[in-house]
Amino acid sequence: MLDTAIEAARAAGQLIMEKYRQPIEVQAKGFRDLVTDVDVAAQEAIVSTIAARFPSHAILAEEGLGGLDQLGEYTWIVDPLDGTTNYAFRLPIFSVSIGLAYQGEPVLGVVYDPTRAHLFYAEAGGGAFLNGASLHVAEREKLIGTLVAFDWARGQALREKLLQVLHRVAPQVGTVRALGSAALAPCYVAAGWLDAYFHPRLSPWDAAAASVIVREAGGQATDFRGQPWALATPHLLAASSALHAKMLALIGEAMALL
Ligand code: 2AM
Ligand code: CA
Repeated sequence: MLDTAIEAARAAGQLIMEKYRQPIEVQAKGFRDLVTDVDVAAQEAIVSTIAARFPSHAILAEEGLGGLDQLGEYTWIVDPLDGTTNYAFRLPIFSVSIGLAYQGEPVLGVVYDPTRAHLFYAEAGGGAFLNGASLHVAEREKLIGTLVAFDWARGQALREKLLQVLHRVAPQVGTVRALGSAALAPCYVAAGWLDAYFHPRLSPWDAAAASVIVREAGGQATDFRGQPWALATPHLLAASSALHAKMLALIGEAMALL
């Protein structure tokens, strides 16, 4: 299953990079929500690879396939292009995310950044890896020395709320980034390149794979109350174990109102 996820992620990544250099057809899917012809083509490539190998497995994918009410014993959870806005603007920060849930629990994750050939992957109990090298979260404990990231939600009310949260967070930490790929940033936490990442409104396909990678690298993936992140959880705090409680205290109270 890991081999299949990696093969599908690489195939989608290759397609994404071929199209990146050509004119891209961009359409609005919703308010501040873009989709390109590449999202759809990449999803088709991934889904056909998985369905050919595992015809009995369910698939939940961003561009209109399956749902949380249609999970199987095994369910693949696919974001063919995470960071579509970046991609549409040609900002080279985006990824392919392929997770696998067993009885509703994420157990395997592959996140591939085709611009840098970064392949992040993990299986429950087997550790987390970047291109074959073992990953571990950072050990920094002091908030003032940390690099923290988040991403913007689309809705106006959530943006206002995020500004309030940033008002609390920014003065306490080293600095703050917003990269634009909700699947990739938690992998950077897993690698120790970021100490923490939070997102106030995401979908199962944004975090299913990354949640496994963060945990297998020794970090935590939870909601804003500290409960383990699950497929139906609409927000995410991914952090090193050294920082998780401090970040939860900093953002949890304000974010719990979301
Ligand atoms: P996408 O590119 O697949 O649409 C940017 O804020 C990051 O968060 C992207 O990874 C984007 O995913 C995701 N994102 C932003 N707003 C979201 C929302 N309302 N629901 C789900 N994902 C969202
Ligand atoms: Ca997407």
